[in-house]
Amino acid sequence: MKCNITNKNVKEIMSFGKMPIANGFLNEKDKSNEYFYEMTVGLSPDLGLFQLTNFPKVEMMFHDKYPFFTNSSNYMRNHFKEYAEWISKEFIENNSDKIIEIGCNDGTMLENFKNNKIESLGIDPSGNVAKIAKDKGLNIINSFFSENLTDSLNEFKSKTKVICAANVICHIPDLNDLIKGIDKLLSKKGVFIFEEPYLGSMINNVSYDQIYDEHIYIFSAISVEKVFNLYDFELIDIYPQITHGGSMRYVLARKNEYSKSPKVNKILGEELKKGFLDIDLYMKFKLNCLRSKERLNDLIDLSLKKNKRIGGYAATSKSTTILNFCSINSNKIDCIYDTTPEKIGKLSPGAHIPVIDSEEFKINPPDTCLLFGWNHKNEIFEKEKNFALNGGKWISHIENFI
Ligand code: TYD
Repeated sequence: MKCNITNKNVKEIMSFGKMPIANGFLNEKDKSNEYFYEMTVGLSPDLGLFQLTNFPKVEMMFHDKYPFFTNSSNYMRNHFKEYAEWISKEFIENNSDKIIEIGCNDGTMLENFKNNKIESLGIDPSGNVAKIAKDKGLNIINSFFSENLTDSLNEFKSKTKVICAANVICHIPDLNDLIKGIDKLLSKKGVFIFEEPYLGSMINNVSYDQIYDEHIYIFSAISVEKVFNLYDFELIDIYPQITHGGSMRYVLARKNEYSKSPKVNKILGEELKKGFLDIDLYMKFKLNCLRSKERLNDLIDLSLKKNKRIGGYAATSKSTTILNFCSINSNKIDCIYDTTPEKIGKLSPGAHIPVIDSEEFKINPPDTCLLFGWNHKNEIFEKEKNFALNGGKWISHIENFI
């Protein structure tokens, strides 16, 4: 698929090579049928939008066996509780206000609004996670969000005070359709709030593993402002987050309905100064990605030379990009430890490294462990503190991270 955002001048930055579906954990018997696409990224200079230039059909990524559950991290559960409390405090004025979450997953965020007595709705295309949310007693539609879908949401049309999302908007290829849908649902004073991994953090950390099929866009304040301006929305506030290794929360409203926080122009100015609209910045990022690949392979080869057994920790979507870009397979990494029942017993996409129960990590730890869930470092290091105490060595593809 190609991106359809109103931009025909996307400049290619780099290819990460052939990639499988990031969350396509598979059984041994399916190895020969695995789907691959060429993962390339580019920049639309007009919008400053960093994007995949080629990606699989959304139905191949989000379906009834989607193996990502928001609930899998304690830290993220707490983060969503605080996010919901903040939304209630800042934007919910009375019981007639309505809220919609796009991409509600298992309802981890939305369940925090249950006691508010306000009407809420979650929308998610992946049947298995939507069912978990439904079973919590939440009002859920199992569907992709689209402008067409709003035709069946009369009670929310022009009456919704808040539409929110987290780590979801970058999954939606058709931003035009998304914003048209939002426009139909929001009230005059309604706000659209979403948070996503931040382009600035990805560039600084060289955390190129944020790039995978589901992350069609890696947003910045500049790109969000420019894209939404096309539809008469403006960025009124912005809040940096530490989640997912550096994220940004964006607050958008119809033009001239709210005053703009001074933080918005400050961050827009900083991004401009750092060259976010300039292809040179991304060419440097490309060089850093290639260097990072070399460095990680050196680290791994050094461990193997010393006869160390290497494991991976957390079978994240991000790990698919690292393993396939760096051509690391089960000859180098024995297994990946993970808590998700839907991933345990399967092979990692492309690299075909067995995923095993993270309980095994305590019983038979490797000598060296590549931390794929680096964004959950504090939570994982606390849980697995005996590993380092007993001489185990954590490594990461991010330089100076551990
Ligand atoms: P996340 O960074 O949210 O993944 P993604 O890159 O797919 O967005 O991490 C979720 C994955 O990490 C999930 O497979 C469960 C795993 N995980 C563990 O195995 N142990 C842990 O302690 C944590 C926090 C996550």
